[in-house]
Amino acid sequence: MTVEHGGDEAGADGGVGSGINPPVRRVSDWDAERLSALADAHDTPLYVQDLDRVRENCERLLAAFRDADVRYAVKAHTGRAVLETVRGVGFDAECASAGEVDRALAAGFGGDRLHYTAVNPPAKDLDYVVDVAGSEPGLTVTVGAVDTLDRLAERGYDGRVCLRVNPGVGAGHHEKVRTGAAAKFGVPDDRAAAVAREASGRFDVVGIHAHAGSGIDPDQLDAHRELVSRMGDLARSLVNPRIDGEDTPDPIDLEYVDVGGGFGVPYREEDPALDLPAVADATRGALGDVPGATLAIEPGRYVVADAGVLLTRVNTVKPTPDGTVVGVDAGMTDLLRPAMYDAYHPIRNLGGGDDREPPAERPVTPVTVAGPICETGDTLCRDRPLARPARGDRLAVGIAGAYGYEMTSQYNSRPRPAEVALSDGDARVARRRERLADLTTLERDSRDRGGTDRSGADASRTESGADAGEVDR
Ligand code: LLP
Repeated sequence: MTVEHGGDEAGADGGVGSGINPPVRRVSDWDAERLSALADAHDTPLYVQDLDRVRENCERLLAAFRDADVRYAVKAHTGRAVLETVRGVGFDAECASAGEVDRALAAGFGGDRLHYTAVNPPAKDLDYVVDVAGSEPGLTVTVGAVDTLDRLAERGYDGRVCLRVNPGVGAGHHEKVRTGAAAKFGVPDDRAAAVAREASGRFDVVGIHAHAGSGIDPDQLDAHRELVSRMGDLARSLVNPRIDGEDTPDPIDLEYVDVGGGFGVPYREEDPALDLPAVADATRGALGDVPGATLAIEPGRYVVADAGVLLTRVNTVKPTPDGTVVGVDAGMTDLLRPAMYDAYHPIRNLGGGDDREPPAERPVTPVTVAGPICETGDTLCRDRPLARPARGDRLAVGIAGAYGYEMTSQYNSRPRPAEVALSDGDARVARRRERLADLTTLERDSRDRGGTDRSGADASRTESGADAGEVDR
């Protein structure tokens, strides 16, 4: 079915490089010619991450959250160039694993700018982080279970600890990313003060932490405020314990109250951007005054999402009784979010294929864009109005900079895509494209060692007793 003209192509090429710092960069704002040239030069599928835009997003966060400590949630995009950019702006790094701590160290974050959030931490991760803390005592471990505190103490750790609380309030773009009320995360609200006080006898308790979830949109700000307000109350009860007869607990000098990340970005063209200064004011208001403690936030998506696009190329256009299916070379192994969360990503046809008409002049027609993976769920969109795609066209999938490359896999034995970083007008390959030979590297490595690799077993070295003392750094 053919409908009207125009669609996503309206406004193409505006905004980028114009010196302004708008709250969101839409897929229509990217320079179509430049993206097409990158697709031709580096092949597809190809991630493009604009470091200048990452910097702008950081600057907007800093301007809105003046006086707050900002920790970039590394899991949103771990690329070295992104980490260096974020470090240069002055953010700390929030890391979810030993691997992320390792990447952050390599990108130049010192221990005093590292926050490791331990979620059911594998023994190897604790071994690694405790080892790092030996030389980088400024590192902080954020802990969400008493068992984790005990496991740290067993390793001789008595350094900086932040207590992760389950505040019972969640928010986010999908059930699977709402953490604030999920039992998996944090010490339950009503036990948090007691756990923090007990921990302060064994560790240097420097903060409390909660994270509502990821992708909080303007309609969910009440949940965010509620979470922050509960954290403010808990913090005051720790900093200024109520005089309660002889049992008044010792105060805990908190350096900060970390209210997590989760600041959403508008994926749909018609969705409004968050009013960041208003969110910051509401956050400060809900927290209230906590003597001696600063507000801390952990944005991931907001920093990198609209700084990235995924470029893909049309290889098949198939009319069917159920509509036109447009086959492309990027699938759920390159961008998992649509398959996993039914997430919407804007798609723009950049043209360049068999249809010589510029996309802006083609009819707009509803199409299903599907990848090369043998799964029905491997679609980037369904029945989406697009400037009629033709074989060879390049498509730009927008707002792909957060949790895009990070969630790629080799499923169906598909090599991972390449990534190009843009900065100050230059483009350079930040991660090379995987080759077919990369798919079998691990098998070849284990064959070379005789086929059995017991040192890689998941059991902890220190907790299992085997190879105690050896830390894999
Ligand atoms: N802090 C903690 C403790 C977190 O667990 C997360 C995200 C963040 C900060 C950053 O949240 P952000 O500002 O990026 O929303 N793969 C999902 C998102 C999972 C987020 C997990 N935790 C997606 O593609 O939507």
